[in-house]
Amino acid sequence: MRIVLLGGAGYLGSVASHHLASRGHDVTVVDGLIYRRGDDPAELLPAAARFVPGDLRDRDLLSRVAGGADVIVHMGGIVGEPASRVDEHLAVELNYASPMIAAEATAAGGAGHYVFFSSCSVYGRHEGTVDEETEPNPLGVYARTKVLAERRLPGVLGDGTALTSLRLATVHGASPRQRLDSVVNAMVSRAASTGRIPLNGGAQRRPLVHVGDVARVLAGVVEWGLTGAWNVGADGENFTIGEIAETVAAVVPGAVIDRGPERDEADTRDYRTSFARLNRVLPGVCSTTLKEGVREIADLVRTGRVTDPAAPQYDNHRGLVAAVASGALGRWGGADCARFASEYDTAWSTQ
Ligand SMILES: NC(=O)c1ccc[n+]([C@@H]2O[C@H](COP(=O)([O-])OP(=O)(O)OC[C@H]3O[C@@H](n4cnc5c(N)ncnc54)[C@H](O)[C@@H]3O)[C@@H](O)[C@H]2O)c1
Repeated sequence: MRIVLLGGAGYLGSVASHHLASRGHDVTVVDGLIYRRGDDPAELLPAAARFVPGDLRDRDLLSRVAGGADVIVHMGGIVGEPASRVDEHLAVELNYASPMIAAEATAAGGAGHYVFFSSCSVYGRHEGTVDEETEPNPLGVYARTKVLAERRLPGVLGDGTALTSLRLATVHGASPRQRLDSVVNAMVSRAASTGRIPLNGGAQRRPLVHVGDVARVLAGVVEWGLTGAWNVGADGENFTIGEIAETVAAVVPGAVIDRGPERDEADTRDYRTSFARLNRVLPGVCSTTLKEGVREIADLVRTGRVTDPAAPQYDNHRGLVAAVASGALGRWGGADCARFASEYDTAWSTQ
């Protein structure tokens, strides 16, 4: 299949592009390398993949790459609430306007399948277990862009293009384009380099998934033509932050937990997620455990492949702040972004 990965040179995309290419797919990656960390796409992507530099808000570019493709995958954008709060308008452009413009280009270009990378963050805070039927409860701009895109994409794609929304658990594990700013990777890399695991409270629950399993899910989705909304992860991989810390302490030699008082966290997500739907159709696809992901990150530090886990290149939030401050990344403006930003404002004006 001819598959276009929008934002495919990132943490998830660089793993997914290798996996899809290894399964014989024709992979094109479009990415603006927005964090300006000097990445070389040739080192991130498989040799067989085509790399197209550019901005995912550029309608002409998206129309060009969508023409002749079978599947368009939107996996670009800003990840998480803290980074999305750096410039909320920018976050709306990248996380809502861009997927919508890409969907319009996809529908016009005739690709039969559009895959949107969403997040389990859409559930926010919930008592009990959430599944795909649970009403979303977005707690910030990041989750709101995902919820609104999921709701509006079918109307834009029309009958000719099937939609899949992948609501990913929090991802961990090693990637050619390493991020160390998500909960597991941050905790392990810090523990492996300093021997300390700071923990304040830790009762909040997070579903987790390994980066390689996300790539396998994506391959399954495009090859089997799975459509609709899917939570991506495994039932046995719902952990509290405290349990994650204990796993890290058990795996990283000599690491100890520094327990502090519960903090008034900015990130109040807390939910247990059901992945039964995915497991029924692709049984065991997300079988890599937290422990295995922890070992991978600890090995990056132990073997010297990561020498300074605190370096800005591993942290999207700091990369974003620097790119915005230097003017390397900014608001796109234009009629398309203005139209979708206004849709976003109207949709959430009463929240
Ligand atoms: N990593 C996680 O834990 C996680 C969890 C849930 C959902 N997701 C979703 O998965 C997707 C990928 O996440 P990731 O961890 O790989 O993030 P990432 O930041 O590593 O990758 C995103 C890529 O998109 C590119 N990009 C962003 N905006 C762009 C633009 N306007 N023009 C050109 N390129 C642009 C960036 O350069 C980057 O390479 C995102 O949609 C994210 O919301 C990730």
